[in-house]
Amino acid sequence: MRYEWDKTLETGHEMIDSQHKQLFAAINDLLAKCEEGKGTDELGKSLDFLNDYTIKHFFDEEKLQQKYNYPDYPNHKQYHEGFKKTVRDLKVQLIMKGPTAELLQEVHSKIGDWLVSHIKVQDSKLAAHIKAAG
Ligand SMILES: [Fe+2]
Repeated sequence: MRYEWDKTLETGHEMIDSQHKQLFAAINDLLAKCEEGKGTDELGKSLDFLNDYTIKHFFDEEKLQQKYNYPDYPNHKQYHEGFKKTVRDLKVQLIMKGPTAELLQEVHSKIGDWLVSHIKVQDSKLAAHIKAAG
């Protein structure tokens, strides 16, 4: 299963939306490699890319939140920190246990599904705030 981009995921903020599309691509790449039975090295590279891009994206999004005095910034930042930890933990899990079915399951539930709901609830709230302020 892949994560498909659709209108319900659009926040209306151009930078946020284009970075979210990149995240989807990175997650789908990781899922494809899991399903193709790639080894720890290949999966590790995809997870590292996802990790780096996530850090960049959250940094940019948090900068916007500070610029626009977003009142929910402290909570939103905590969600981001939790997700970054999840990605780090999955990397450790991959190194310890290799590419398991459990890992694939967690990429879906803790990465992909988490991102979809974070975008729909938290990021669309943020984009609405920015739009109202701008
Ligand atoms: Fe966010």
